[in-house]
Amino acid sequence: MRIDPARPGVVGDRQRAIEQELVDRVVASFGDAPDDRLREVLTALTRHLHAFLREVRPSEPEWQAAIGFLTAAGHITTDRRQEFILLSDVLGASMQTIAINNEAVGDATEATVFGPFFVEDAPRIELGGDIAGGAPGRPCWVEGTVTDTAGNPVAGARIEVWEADEDGFYDVQYDDGRTAGRAHLFTGDDGGYRFWGITPVPYPIPHDGPVGALLDASGRSPMRAAHLHFMVTAPGLRTLVTHIFVRGDELLDSDAVFGVKESLVQDFVEQRPGTPAPDGRDLGDRSWTRVRFDIVLAPAPGDG
Ligand code: BEZ
Ligand code: FE
Repeated sequence: MRIDPARPGVVGDRQRAIEQELVDRVVASFGDAPDDRLREVLTALTRHLHAFLREVRPSEPEWQAAIGFLTAAGHITTDRRQEFILLSDVLGASMQTIAINNEAVGDATEATVFGPFFVEDAPRIELGGDIAGGAPGRPCWVEGTVTDTAGNPVAGARIEVWEADEDGFYDVQYDDGRTAGRAHLFTGDDGGYRFWGITPVPYPIPHDGPVGALLDASGRSPMRAAHLHFMVTAPGLRTLVTHIFVRGDELLDSDAVFGVKESLVQDFVEQRPGTPAPDGRDLGDRSWTRVRFDIVLAPAPGDG
């Protein structure tokens, strides 16, 4: 009997010793791993995994269900669909890893989750260009500066931007090979940047697989707060992967992947039809929005 019959819910001494002896043996089995870091990771994994099991005390069918869940995540994963990243995201593990690796430095802009929809080699646009590439959505003028933590402008910083269209889909979620809602550009000599995008809308993370079923079973929504992705790189500075969020979005407190940080919530200011655009663009009778996002890059790790 696993549980001490005299004290239901309490594991008896003999049982505890049997369980601990197994933990110790598994830890010892990694004791000769030649790579110190591997040994450290596997030892901690063993300790925490067994602590989890000994706390939760799964039945054997429950453990099989857990293995079945991971198997289903493997089966749905392809070159275009990464269910394990989604799992990491909805458990907050992605954001915890980001927090660990992007320590706050001065007023450096905070990082957030990368997500699965970044694509290398998105088209280049000039300053003031349009990333929409035909993606439907309300135009949004985005502008700001890139500086270092001492306030110096960073000229020539590479800015990658990507976003979903107004229907909540990234270009790569369509089957027709389109490239839309993404581009890269470089800051000018004054560290400034500007481009046209589309006003972000909330959308669900892919939820037709095991991670979606997990959210559903837990009464959680798959919705992400509306956002626009940025990745900013410049020599000698820490690469920043982040988003901006839309102030007033009701999903800010329930983002499915815990990606929202207050410092990243920005005012997307409504512009009535007929309001002159900053670059003279003719928007006809459409309303549009504009947002400012000033980006501060931390020094690269090891550069102080
Ligand atoms: C995204 O923002 O693109 C995203 C992030 C995490 C999971 C799914 C999508
Ligand atoms: Fe996204």
